[in-house]
Amino acid sequence: VLVNEPDQTLPVRYGPWALVAGASAGLGAAFAVQAARCCFDVVLVARRESALAETASRIRAEYGVNTRTIVADLAAPDAGEVIAGEIDDLDLGVFVYNAAAEPEGRFLDVPLEEQRVNLSVNCWTPTVLAHRVGHKMVERGRGAMAIVSSMAALQGIKMFASYGAAKAYELILAEGLWDEFREHGVDVLSYVVGATASANFRGAAPEAYGEAAPSAGGPADRILNPSTPDEVAARLFERLHAGPRQYSHDADEATAVSAAQGSRADAVRAMGEITSRLARFQKIG
Ligand SMILES: NC(=O)c1ccc[n+]([C@@H]2O[C@H](COP(=O)([O-])OP(=O)(O)OC[C@H]3O[C@@H](n4cnc5c(N)ncnc54)[C@H](OP(=O)(O)O)[C@@H]3O)[C@@H](O)[C@H]2O)c1
Repeated sequence: VLVNEPDQTLPVRYGPWALVAGASAGLGAAFAVQAARCCFDVVLVARRESALAETASRIRAEYGVNTRTIVADLAAPDAGEVIAGEIDDLDLGVFVYNAAAEPEGRFLDVPLEEQRVNLSVNCWTPTVLAHRVGHKMVERGRGAMAIVSSMAALQGIKMFASYGAAKAYELILAEGLWDEFREHGVDVLSYVVGATASANFRGAAPEAYGEAAPSAGGPADRILNPSTPDEVAARLFERLHAGPRQYSHDADEATAVSAAQGSRADAVRAMGEITSRLARFQKIG
């Protein structure tokens, strides 16, 4: 169910093509579909070729827009350069960086190779793409960029320590670019996403937790009642112009504001209370 009518003037304002990095599933596929609803032609990037092709053909059939798929592993050191080369011929109006590596478990138990992938997918590749795409948008004097961050980025987060840190890099990078690019007519948005029922999201199911499931109240309310990917995607396109930061849900913003008023220790512990109760971590506690 659509929240609002899609804004079909966006391609005129920003340029005709939208690129979604991490577009093969869940939230990423919803961003690609929402781009098409707004009448953008869409470039879809991810590793799974068949999932990308499926979403791309659905978009073409339902919305009559053009698509291009790029199969790429965003953890590869040259992924950003390769993708930038493959879209050099396009007038790119919107760039959404959605993909994420999500290492989980206690920091010392996460192998260094997974830590490297975390830094590559969540920090290095978005930096390269923001640089390459940013140059073109600024030269042309129009465009919009959104980097998808997370409530995990707002404080340290037990069991997802390096993921939260990498998402904080994305959050702050996008805010800085908002201030640098806005004088050149380019909108940048740091999009803080809270619980969303995407393919990877397991937090809402009661069986996701051990005996001491989190009680309702505060952040746990959202985790037990996640948004749909369609709602989160619609909101991003509605708020592309409203950087430096937007949240995927009013309740996420309220949680962030209230956590910022308390102590850092309280904010960190409140997150850790939830993540460490996930059943899959209880054996390592
Ligand atoms: N879901 C939530 O509750 C939630 C909460 C807070 C923040 N977020 C943020 O929202 C974004 C979406 O997360 P999600 O968990 O909901 O996932 P999703 O959008 O359902 O799927 C992740 C996408 O990223 C792609 N991807 C992952 N690693 C990749 C790699 N190495 N190379 C290329 N593509 C890669 C995946 O495609 P392939 O597997 O085909 O490569 C997939 O298309 C992330 O930035 C995440 O940090 C989500």
